[in-house]
Amino acid sequence: MSRPELALALVGFGHVGQRFLRLLDEVADRLDFDWRLVAIATRRHGCAVDADGIDADRALATMEGRLSLERLDHEPQQRSGIDVVRRVTDVLADEASEGRLVTIETTLLDIEQGEPATAHVRASLEGLAHVVTANKGPVAFGYRDLESLAESVDRFFLFEGAVMDGVPVFNLVRETMPGVVVEAFRGVINSTCNYVLAELERGTPFDDAIAAMQAQGIAEADPSHDVDGWDAAAKTAALANVLLDAVITPHQVERTGIRDVTAADASEAVASGRRIRLVASAARHGRTIEARVEPELLDGRDPLANLTGTENALYLKTDLLGEIGVVQRTGSVAQTAYALLSDVMRISRRFREL
Ligand SMILES: NC(=O)c1ccc[n+]([C@@H]2O[C@H](COP(=O)([O-])OP(=O)(O)OC[C@H]3O[C@@H](n4cnc5c(N)ncnc54)[C@H](OP(=O)(O)O)[C@@H]3O)[C@@H](O)[C@H]2O)c1
Repeated sequence: MSRPELALALVGFGHVGQRFLRLLDEVADRLDFDWRLVAIATRRHGCAVDADGIDADRALATMEGRLSLERLDHEPQQRSGIDVVRRVTDVLADEASEGRLVTIETTLLDIEQGEPATAHVRASLEGLAHVVTANKGPVAFGYRDLESLAESVDRFFLFEGAVMDGVPVFNLVRETMPGVVVEAFRGVINSTCNYVLAELERGTPFDDAIAAMQAQGIAEADPSHDVDGWDAAAKTAALANVLLDAVITPHQVERTGIRDVTAADASEAVASGRRIRLVASAARHGRTIEARVEPELLDGRDPLANLTGTENALYLKTDLLGEIGVVQRTGSVAQTAYALLSDVMRISRRFREL
């Protein structure tokens, strides 16, 4: 089969989910698959399921008008993401069995247990849908189980958007570095913290720097996930689970946030040719994994020290390629949407490989 038609079920339809839907239209001429939107699940804006297809423009307009998806006259009786997943895998069982149903999971990170996102992923795979997610939760809390479930049902579980937006990190290693062992990694992977630390060096008060990130939609209204290092810990667990074959959760990452870093600390560091950055790192030592997130005083020549604004970078220590790194100069919701698209394209490619 050359060009499959994929049925897409969006579980979560906020900034990322909506941007993904627009991107499908913007790059329509580059897609190697046709698609049909068969379900949308939100928490407070209703749900919709229709095996014949939901009009994407109407769905987007409904969300822009802050209205409920139940106005769209599709099946509205599902009340949660898990109901929608179960219903869609049921009514599209034939397409699921042909590998043409894909759940796009973009609900919010739950830092306690990674739920209900992990349940959405599991139920999708059990119903023979592929899963693509930008949510760190499932990979940070349940990667090994979910990956082995995906393998056992011959479906993809992909999550490139979970770390560094659209910059390939997982796919870089999994798709382009066969046979290479990653022994450790080290990086700056939280944009809000990097921005705040760089702004403190310029004398900007901590709260003003946070407010600027909130105004750009990068930091949450409650920025504690970023400031206390939880977001970076979830990304560290996700990276360690996939790249270092670890089985850890964010709660096993040693974590110190940036709340106690002062403008005086930051300018003192600069005066001595150094920089404070929130560094996420993990390494394998035999059977143990050491993973941590903490503000580090870095030498000015350290590539992580020179990241300004919302820049991110990740350096991998490998056995066959030495140390290699990827740098993200600017991040955006559009890039996260692209990560989802690149994962869906990976799924569609399989139809050409058959
Ligand atoms: N924004 C970014 O740049 C970015 C970058 C990388 C990764 N991510 C990750 O991508 C995910 C989505 O981010 P976002 O910015 O799109 O968030 P968002 O705008 O808050 O959207 C989240 C969506 O999930 C829905 N939702 C939440 N809990 C749900 C549940 N239990 N069942 C069904 N739907 C539920 C929300 O519905 P309601 O609105 O009705 O509550 C909303 O539609 C997050 O995990 C985030 O960490 C985001």
